[in-house]
Amino acid sequence: MEIKRIAVVGAGAMGTGIAYQAARFGVEVNLTDVKEEYINNGISKIKGFVKDGVQRGKLDLKEAKVILDRIHKTPDLEACVKDVDLVLEAVFEDMKVKQELFKKIETFAGPDTIFATNTSSLSITEIAASTKRPAKVVGVHFFNPAYTMKLVEIVVGKTTSEETVETATKFAQKLDKTTVRCKDSAGFIVNRILGALMGEAFKILQEGLATAEDIDTAMQLGANHPVGPLTLADYVGLDIARAVAETLHRAYGDCYATPKILVGLVESGKLGMKSGEGFHKYTK
Ligand SMILES: NC(=O)c1ccc[n+]([C@@H]2O[C@H](COP(=O)([O-])OP(=O)(O)OC[C@H]3O[C@@H](n4cnc5c(N)ncnc54)[C@H](O)[C@@H]3O)[C@@H](O)[C@H]2O)c1
Repeated sequence: MEIKRIAVVGAGAMGTGIAYQAARFGVEVNLTDVKEEYINNGISKIKGFVKDGVQRGKLDLKEAKVILDRIHKTPDLEACVKDVDLVLEAVFEDMKVKQELFKKIETFAGPDTIFATNTSSLSITEIAASTKRPAKVVGVHFFNPAYTMKLVEIVVGKTTSEETVETATKFAQKLDKTTVRCKDSAGFIVNRILGALMGEAFKILQEGLATAEDIDTAMQLGANHPVGPLTLADYVGLDIARAVAETLHRAYGDCYATPKILVGLVESGKLGMKSGEGFHKYTK
């Protein structure tokens, strides 16, 4: 099955990037969120991506219009998911929220619709178990920003069918992504490795051994990483980083225990770039 129309549920950082990338590559996109205001904010963000593409000479004005015309603001969940080939879920990193959402989506979606989750770390098999179509549930994990990062992890749950894996892989490739395949496991490939790396960076800061600036500089210049681990965590969002850290801790034990410094920042509303402050300060 070729994916021609999708529903993107969650118009935050990832949902908007995925919606834009899909529309750029010819896919019709219905976009929804819990409040109309959030969808409008998402559409404004996408207009910003398009404007940037035009300014950088990557898109002409005609292409820009075609892309925006392919994205349909759809506040009603039923209308959003009713006639689509694939639902791409990009809501909060919380198992209950995702399971409840897919249960609701299932009452509206056609029987052949694939349910793809953009979860960073949660079990695809558990998400699938909340639906009546576990063979059609798959992890399609984009990275931030979804329109520039080349990788998509295709995460195969215990119940995911090969047909679903193949369709999801072709969909990601149609969006100009390189795919890697991983069996269902906390954090998959990238975030399991990144979780260990970021966790050590958090601990070095927490132990007062080096400043945030020096930790980032050390990894940029000493390990040739394009950004330091603390700046990367700020970019991802510290709420997301904490949720991923907790999943890794539950799965792999105390070496992944969530450092207090991360919990403290999230609890004081310092979520990284999106809130203006995390490990570093940002001007909006
Ligand atoms: N931020 C990253 O770098 C990154 C990278 C890869 C994957 N992810 C994953 O993508 C997902 C979304 O992350 P994000 O950074 O875009 O989060 P975000 O907080 O920017 O956006 C989440 C959006 O989901 C909406 N939402 C919540 N519950 C909903 C529901 N029941 N129905 C519809 N909309 C709902 C929220 O209103 C919000 O707009 C998470 O699972 C996250 O782990 C994040």
